[in-house]
Amino acid sequence: ASVISENVREVLLTAEQIKDRIAELARDIERDYEGRKPLLIGVLKGAVMVVSDLARELQIDLEMDWMAVSSYGSGTVSSGVVRILKDLDTDLSGRDVLIVEDIIDSGLTLSWLKQNLESRGAASVQICTLLRKPERLKVDVPVRYIGFDVPNEFVVGYGLDHDERYRNLSDVVVLKPSAFGGSDDEISGPVEPARKVVTPGLGDDN
Ligand code: PRP
Ligand code: MN
Ligand code: MG
Repeated sequence: ASVISENVREVLLTAEQIKDRIAELARDIERDYEGRKPLLIGVLKGAVMVVSDLARELQIDLEMDWMAVSSYGSGTVSSGVVRILKDLDTDLSGRDVLIVEDIIDSGLTLSWLKQNLESRGAASVQICTLLRKPERLKVDVPVRYIGFDVPNEFVVGYGLDHDERYRNLSDVVVLKPSAFGGSDDEISGPVEPARKVVTPGLGDDN
């Protein structure tokens, strides 16, 4: 077995489940953005796979741009203060912006980013994320399109990394504790399943 599969505790979402859910999200987005040519903004690097698959699924006119940001603060403690490492090439005046993320954890990155993009004169700023970890949310940031809520486990794959590894996996998987410096004796029960989050109707938050 490869080093990668030795480190996998469980497959949380298969490539097929991800593909199907992205197609559903694309139908929601097409319905909301028909005729508006949204600007999809992918947050590097984790969102690369989601943007790539979502954009090809969307049967509407759109543009894509990319940002790279980094949270200030030491180690795993996110402060909510964000530094722009790579900015957009696109003028946001009057644009309908859709930020695309792989996962919302504390929500601090997105909360900052949404305000930052709104301050540039965008007509609207909405968020699409494949995954959300409800147990870890620290700030209330309105997210219009959510693929799945996932348990508070170390998830990687499909763009998500641990120390830059595993981004190339087609599935989203839960790592064994031993893969990130823990002991596999800590494993208590089965991994909670991922749960699909239904997109609310327009008007609730637009
Ligand atoms: C991860 C993830 C989100 C962010 C979420 O990115 O891809 O962008 O953290 O965390 P938050 O909700 O607590 O702000 P990371 O900073 O690891 O960079 P990467 O995308 O290059 O892996
Ligand atoms: Mn990221
Ligand atoms: Mg990361």
